[in-house]
This record gives sequence, C-alpha cells and structure tokens, in this order.
Amino acid sequence: MRNLSPSMFIGVAGKGVLSFGSGQPDLPPPTEVYSCLANYKAFKYGLIAGETNLREALAKEYRGYTKDNFIITNGASEALDLVIRAVGKPNDNVLLHTPYYYSYRPLVEMNYRKPLFVRTYKGKIDIDDFEENVHKAKAVLINSPSNPTGRIQEIKTLKIIEKMTDDLNIPLISDEVYKDLIYERENYMLSGRHVITINSFSKTFSMCGLRIGYLFSNDKSLVQKIIDMKSHTSMNTSIITQEMAYRATKVPRSFVKSQVRIWKERRNIIYRGMTELGLDLWKPEGAFYVLPKIKKPRNFVWDMFKKHKVITYLGEWFGAPERVRFSYALDTDKIEEGLKRVKKYLEKR
Ligand SMILES: Cc1ncc(COP(=O)(O)O)c(C=O)c1O
Repeated sequence: MRNLSPSMFIGVAGKGVLSFGSGQPDLPPPTEVYSCLANYKAFKYGLIAGETNLREALAKEYRGYTKDNFIITNGASEALDLVIRAVGKPNDNVLLHTPYYYSYRPLVEMNYRKPLFVRTYKGKIDIDDFEENVHKAKAVLINSPSNPTGRIQEIKTLKIIEKMTDDLNIPLISDEVYKDLIYERENYMLSGRHVITINSFSKTFSMCGLRIGYLFSNDKSLVQKIIDMKSHTSMNTSIITQEMAYRATKVPRSFVKSQVRIWKERRNIIYRGMTELGLDLWKPEGAFYVLPKIKKPRNFVWDMFKKHKVITYLGEWFGAPERVRFSYALDTDKIEEGLKRVKKYLEKR
C-alpha cells in the first residue's frame, strides 16, 4: 500500500467511483452568481482588501461592522494562512481542538508556529483541558460546526472561550465556513475585541473552485497588517469572482434554507445507515461530515478505493487516527450505494 495523502483523492472521479472524499458541495450554485459572466470586462487589479461593494454587502450581513473590518481572500484557506502568519511570532503555540480540519496543523507548522491540542469528548471541547492549555497559547483557533466531526460547540462553551481569550488578550480565530449549514440551532458567532472571523462562499453557495472567502475583525491594526502582507502575496482576490460573490450576497435566504433541508435529509440517511452497520459515530449537527471509528483505517481507505471504488479520508489527517471521514456531499441514492459497499467490505472482513 502506498503512502496515503489527501492529494491522491482531491478531484478524483471516474466511472463507478463514489467520492465521500472532498468536502465540496455537489449542489448547484444560485444562477444569480454566474449570470454576470458574459458581460463582465473589468479585469484590472483591484483593491487588496477587496472590492468595496462586496465588503459593504458583508458589513450589512454582520451587524456592528463596517467594510473596513473586512478583507476578501482566496477562499477561507488564504484567510487562515494570513491570519496565522499575522498573529504572534515564530514558536508561539496555537491552540487547536482535535479532531481538526486537516490544513490547520500544516498551516500552523509552515508558519513556524506550534500546534497545541485540546481534547474533545464526542467532538465537544473539554473546557477543563481548554482552560489548562489556553494559558500556554498565543492564539486559539475554533471551528464550529466542525470539519471533520460535523459537531457544533455548545453556546456555553463558546461563551467561556470568548471570555478566557479576552481576559488573556489573545487572538481568537473563528473558522465559521459552515455557519449556514447547521441542523440543530442558529449559529452562535464568536465575537469580541480580538476575534477574527473567517468565512467562505465555498460551502453555502457551492463556489469552492472559485476560491473566495473573507475575514473580518474589530482589530483594525491587525486588519491593516494583513492587507499589507497580502499586497506582497496574492494581491487582490480574483475580481470577477468577487463580483460573483457580491451577487451571492443578494440571493434570498430561502436558497440557504432549502439547501439545509437537503443536507439534513442526507445527514439522516448516512447517520442511520452507519448506525445500522454497527459503526461507532457521533451524530453530525452541522456541515456535511461523519467520522466513524473503523478498525485498521488505512486498510479500509485503501481497499475501499481500490476494490470498491469508494473514496474516503483517513482520520489521521484530522488528528483522529482510529477513524475515517466521510463527506456526504452526494445524492441520497449515491449515499445508499456507498453504504452498501461499506457493508460488503465490513462483512467480508
Ligand atoms: C473548516 C474549513 N475551513 C476552511 C476550509 C477551506 O475553505 P475554502 O474553500 O474557502 O478555502 C475548509 C474546506 O473544506 C474547511 O472545511
């Protein structure tokens, strides 16, 4: 078996292949988003912080902020990279909760910071462990709803985290790319003096390949520092993509609601199916991932791909070595078919 890595599977398709791999929505984007394409011709460099109309539209969405709190980025991925680089200095500890999104650890390490891990129980942060470790950290990164667990953090926990990081005067980075995809309650947005919120158009509006996201913060000196950094890296985010994102901000809320209904139905099918297979897993409360425990996960991921044409992701990439991640961004009949193939594999084993 060769060394397994996410790049082996990202974008892989083929006859009969079912991908529970990449976290990319299969649902179509709203038509408003691409109806501008035929006539758009303004291809000059744009503002590093992002186009004014888009930042103003976002400021309206999040009360209490103005366009000057925002930076438009190449996906949440660029926002994460810029923020991790902008806060603190080399060798600082950045607190992550496990299991974590698989880019967090490399991003922290590539930026010469050190990841420090907080325990979770069934995907929920162990607040005592958090309290013990937060004193050693120079920044905290929270992701709720979470990729890869699909779990959301309790509001009580989020409030404690807000208070502790505020008391300690340390940046609290909140990755809320799944904020619109919650099945159980409204999103609780972390806020405060040192909070930096990261979001994206990838998931809510099925615009992953367009690479568009954003960050915002009350800390204007940090926002300026990031704009200065970005002027020497990617410069402005793609101008046409920003226009498409602007149009996405005008799409009625009913679009998002109808998508959540579809995700919830899929969540119910995969959760029920896996429970019936006897797998140990946590019920997803948001996003579109499940993370069941699987014996010999490396064999599972490899054999499912080679023998059963099913792509899944190794839990060890997310700091969960006993588990395997399934993204259920698939039609319900494909989810059912995937479950059948998993059943066949487990029965043979
Ligand atoms: C938690 C989380 N953060 C960030 C990203 C990156 O998103 P984007 O496509 O906006 O770069 C992802 C993508 O899967 C994600 O799951």
